[in-house]
Amino acid sequence: MVCENINVNEKGNLAFAGFDTAELAAKHGTPLYLMDEDRIRHNCRIYLKAMAEAFGTEAQPLYASKAASFKRMYEIMKEEGMGIDVVSSGEIFTALKAGFDLKNAYFHSNNKTDWDIAYAIENGIGYFVVDNSEELYAINEAAAKAGIVQDILLRITPGIDTHTYEAVNTGKVDSKFGSAIATGQAEDMVRLTLSYEHIRLCGFHCHIGSQVFDSDTFLRGSDIMLDFIADMKSKLDFVTQQLDLGGGYGVRYVESDPTIDIAANIAQVAANVKAKCHCLGLDIPKILMEPGRSIVADAGMTLYTVGTVKTIPGYKNYVSIDGGMTDNPRFALYGSAYTVFVANKMNETADFVCSLVGRCCESGDIIQENITIPRPVRGDIAAVCTTGAYNYSMASNYNRIARPPIVMLSGGRDYVAVKRESLEDIAANDI
Ligand code: LLP
Repeated sequence: MVCENINVNEKGNLAFAGFDTAELAAKHGTPLYLMDEDRIRHNCRIYLKAMAEAFGTEAQPLYASKAASFKRMYEIMKEEGMGIDVVSSGEIFTALKAGFDLKNAYFHSNNKTDWDIAYAIENGIGYFVVDNSEELYAINEAAAKAGIVQDILLRITPGIDTHTYEAVNTGKVDSKFGSAIATGQAEDMVRLTLSYEHIRLCGFHCHIGSQVFDSDTFLRGSDIMLDFIADMKSKLDFVTQQLDLGGGYGVRYVESDPTIDIAANIAQVAANVKAKCHCLGLDIPKILMEPGRSIVADAGMTLYTVGTVKTIPGYKNYVSIDGGMTDNPRFALYGSAYTVFVANKMNETADFVCSLVGRCCESGDIIQENITIPRPVRGDIAAVCTTGAYNYSMASNYNRIARPPIVMLSGGRDYVAVKRESLEDIAANDI
């Protein structure tokens, strides 16, 4: 199985986090997002332990909450001792609702509005991760107005190309994010920052890409960043306190995806950082990392009820479900691979080749193409694995379809963390 929390039970049904998924579908209805809370906590602890061991107890993983943002997630992050990466006032608002202390929050985004900046400052944001000079100016003004000195990191583009899909490849020089070292803009940003009275520069951030499997990505990234840090020390006498290496470790969506040993990888990055700092005569900065996908992806599963099963002779078979690109746009956007099961037919022969498609009025509304499953009939339960990251958070109401609820699974207990949208909810803002 793609993850160890997936099994087949004695009834021949798909089990997830020890629960019978067919029973969960009957109890909560479909479409249904499931989240294995124990797996989320397990994934957090891998980072917490590995980073503390490798970099010292000062090091801090930040959960990139864009991967799955709802109140319960921030409560779990608070309980686990994770920091958070937020990218909008909406994420900040949700974190506040969970009682998350924003001192431990880093506010990203390439275009924070003046309103966002004021809102974040008002609520005591720990750090802005500043993207550009206009934003720097706006933060300085807002901090002056609030009578504070605001801590920030600068987002730097190290100029690394990862071998991942284009939409999530962000570390290149040609990127809408950050300031590039190669063009001299990163250095300009440091000079500018140091000239502002109401801003304290604490260090630097880079994020190279997402769903990355190359084990040398973080090594190359940290090397380039440390060279830059040494350069800023010698040119500007600036001592970097924090280095945020971003997120990006890939997860297994299908059996053919590799498994990453995150703890071993972090240990390797730490050895490299220590050696490089020694070589450059630098004190090792406090290291931050920002995992999103690798915290929540394999904690998620989506259940659907099968509707129409259509065969076009000489072409292919279509299995339609009661959800689709509205709850999972990742195939439509990136052609992402997923593992699909018929949850109530796990012991039946998988010999039906088909596309699993959604219910939207759009041909591109596909969850997965060319899968082989037992031939399903109307009423069967389809399960799509590894949907914990960037599914709920990218869901939409296209075609005025309601978003599914999120049911958390923990220690044999299932509970609703996000309720199902109603038809009233969908039209709630219409005047
Ligand atoms: N830090 C920054 C600044 C980021 O931009 C991201 C992701 C992360 C951390 C977390 O990266 P992760 O560990 O999750 O790979 N919607 C796409 C993914 C977009 C990722 C955007 N940034 C998807 O569904 O695959």
